[in-house]
Amino acid sequence: MTELETRKEQALAAIAAASSPEAVEALRVEALGKQGWISLALKTLGAMSPEERTAQAPAIQATRAAVADAIAAKKDALEGAELEQRLTSERLDLTLPAPETPRGTVHPVSQVMDELAEIFADLGFSVATGPEIEDDWHNFTALNMAETHPARAMHDTFYFPDTDADERRMLLRTHTSPVQIRSMVAQGAPLRIIAPGRVYRSDSDATHTPMFHQVEGLVIDRGIHLGHLKWTLETFLKAFFERDDIVLRLRPSYFPFTEPSVEVDVGWQDVGGPNGPRRVLGGDGDAPGHGWMELLGSGMVNARVLEFAGLDPAEWQGFAFGVGVDRLAMLKYGMDDLRAFFDGDGRWLSHYGFSHLDQPTLSAGVGARA
Ligand code: PHE
Repeated sequence: MTELETRKEQALAAIAAASSPEAVEALRVEALGKQGWISLALKTLGAMSPEERTAQAPAIQATRAAVADAIAAKKDALEGAELEQRLTSERLDLTLPAPETPRGTVHPVSQVMDELAEIFADLGFSVATGPEIEDDWHNFTALNMAETHPARAMHDTFYFPDTDADERRMLLRTHTSPVQIRSMVAQGAPLRIIAPGRVYRSDSDATHTPMFHQVEGLVIDRGIHLGHLKWTLETFLKAFFERDDIVLRLRPSYFPFTEPSVEVDVGWQDVGGPNGPRRVLGGDGDAPGHGWMELLGSGMVNARVLEFAGLDPAEWQGFAFGVGVDRLAMLKYGMDDLRAFFDGDGRWLSHYGFSHLDQPTLSAGVGARA
């Protein structure tokens, strides 16, 4: 046996005996690495005469191929064994419960808006929307708000530096009432809409946030009077608070865009509970232990507003109302700090929020949810 053959046999035996990928790698370096014995043997070919090279080369190449193949095969075998070992020792228990993925909930504001849309849909109202970035004509002028009206002041309203193409000042709408104008201009009369959405005022404390939500209501038709307004509000509030004993008190008030204007109060009462008396809506506010709470602004649409919107006040009349959605949510679901509505705190939401499976229908009894 030549020296080359001897080394080859030894190497193949060592490879066959190796028990780890590291040991195989060490054998590979020893044979095929830069200074490995096979590499060195290959180098000697360069110094040989052509005849000698022809005689020697096949044996050296065959040795290289045999050793390289043995190393590759052994590596595969060892890796396969390692995988087999892991597959038998590491088990996946498919009967374990899967880790829970965090799930969002419906925000009370969205919930209340859905409830309002549903209640008013039953009364034949559709939902209208308008832009949150308004111009001062829709937000103020067309609603009959004089140049000197305090709501127009810089410190009450968020203005943009730019004007629109008609030179109107742009601002974040201060109420949903501009949707009255947009709906009348776009759809004419008769009309029955509610318009829920975000509004903005320069205000900030426990009961005021710079952004909050309102829902506007507007009915335009022939022969509409205050009785229609009162019945509609009463029907809406009874359905929303899920109580038949809701009592309204209409007080004369003033809004530039309604004439006459009425502020609507709702009667409340203290009821006992495990944590002391709790104020709930319902009952005559004048009864002993009861009181009145101001809830919303409303009135008959001012004839000038109808004219601004292109309707003839001799033919069409209507009523409008505006109410805070956040406030409705607080009263129905018992939150006490308005600011928490917009903190984005998941704990608050999981306490007060609603599951997607809670249908915003009266029949499903959302208000009765535990
Ligand atoms: N826009 C009024 C407000 O924000 C509310 C309102 C709407 C009053 C419609 C009357 C009629 O205070």
